[in-house]
Amino acid sequence: MRTKIVIANWKMKLGVFESIQLVKKLKLAFLKKLWQEQIIICPDFLSLPSSRQALLRSKLKLGAQNCFWQENGSYTGEVSVKNLSSLGVEYVILGHSERRRYFKETSLQVASKARLALLNNITPIICLGESRSEYKNNKTLFILKKQLKASLDGIKLTAKQRLVIAYEPVWAIGSGESLEANKIANILKFLQEELKKITSFKKAISRISFIYGGSVNPDNAKVMANFKDIQGLLVGSESLQVKSFTKICQEFLS
Ligand code: PGA
Repeated sequence: MRTKIVIANWKMKLGVFESIQLVKKLKLAFLKKLWQEQIIICPDFLSLPSSRQALLRSKLKLGAQNCFWQENGSYTGEVSVKNLSSLGVEYVILGHSERRRYFKETSLQVASKARLALLNNITPIICLGESRSEYKNNKTLFILKKQLKASLDGIKLTAKQRLVIAYEPVWAIGSGESLEANKIANILKFLQEELKKITSFKKAISRISFIYGGSVNPDNAKVMANFKDIQGLLVGSESLQVKSFTKICQEFLS
């Protein structure tokens, strides 16, 4: 059964101490909220262990912002998804446009990481999105279809595995410009239909969540809550503000 989710992507914006403080504040803000287990907090790698500690006795979930495509070996500086799993990480953001842009990550690499994450009981949050010029030239659906197919290469979900597909227009990230809710819903529906064309995903469609990210704020979250095809939100900057993030979750999940 698919439930709505809200994911907080803290990027590289907080120190370890600040992350712990924010986790504690959010834990308090969401205390007794029935939908708190639908919220996933993604701090940076170094803050994961202390965030886990701070999250004790709370149902908020923990996610990472990346992982490597091998479990272990001579890969200086990389982070193993197996280690993330042993820390209690349940989700991992993969193929965020900042990683595709600054680290030249390809969709096929994203697929390798996602396959390994699934093997380690971690749900991949696979990010897709078109650039501003692709958007302006009406290439959005073409680009998304291509990224979707390649980012899912070789993936087959078992009965217990879940997947999150996050549509994040690159031009909407951090720009304050979000796409209109009805357009987002249509695009997420399109992605859903595309996956249904693949037999193995068709059977698993109720375990795949289709979500939106890019300048999400309390106002647009309220509007998006009315669209059944928008099954979740990926929130960047506004997830660092307790008041804003609480409002977003309240509007979208309650
Ligand atoms: P934003 O970031 O909410 O600040 O636009 C979203 C993201 O990068 O996932």
